[in-house]
Amino acid sequence: MKRLRVLVTAGPTREYIDPVRFISNPSTGKMGFALAEAARKKGFLVTLVSGPVCLKTPQDIELIPVITAAEMAQAVLNRIDKNDLLIMAAAVADFKPSLCLKEKIKKTRNKFKSINLEPTQDILLQVAERKRGKFVVGFAAETENCLKNARRKLVEKNLDMIVLNDVAAPGIGFGYDTNQVSVITSDFKVERFPVLSKRETAEIILDCISINMKGMKSNG
Ligand code: CTP
Repeated sequence: MKRLRVLVTAGPTREYIDPVRFISNPSTGKMGFALAEAARKKGFLVTLVSGPVCLKTPQDIELIPVITAAEMAQAVLNRIDKNDLLIMAAAVADFKPSLCLKEKIKKTRNKFKSINLEPTQDILLQVAERKRGKFVVGFAAETENCLKNARRKLVEKNLDMIVLNDVAAPGIGFGYDTNQVSVITSDFKVERFPVLSKRETAEIILDCISINMKGMKSNG
């Protein structure tokens, strides 16, 4: 039976200001890597596109390392057509410096007072334009109006499912080994899960995907 293919993204991206400084976020990639492992256990052929992280590459998973949001976008868009499922767990930086300086900025440069920023490309919005039957799962990292914002992203990014993470809650999320998520499907049904390890959370998310993804039964 044909094995389904999944593309998982993980970790942060870095947007460089000069060769030694960048804008990023505290994502460690643990959730994305756990999802990649859980998908492999479910029988998927897994490609993991990851920003800079300090994690061991899981067995039997193709790893595509990237650094910037632009590199992650290219890696995802080049591969999306070959995959049945995309799980976009990466914490993609939303802004990048308009200019990355070639040489290290010296602290004596007294004119350096501000950094001009411009938006990075929204990968999921670009995927939405060429979705063609793929099952697409996004994440929503929120600190306020969590459910409302997650529902808006589900619609705006034309997702089949969104996993809501309250990143302001203490002890879960960024950097921790535990997470507490709610899964929202395209019919706006919300299922809230307890605080669990990221491995357990990943397994639960894959179970939700299995239930909602047409044709996934061939993966057992
Ligand atoms: N995402 C993306 N491309 C970006 C930024 C985010 O594809 N440039 C994806 C993330 O991987 C995630 C989803 O979009 O699956 C939502 O990301 P999130 O950071 O929660 O929201 P944003 O879309 O960045 O919006 P905001 O910063 O306003 O909350």
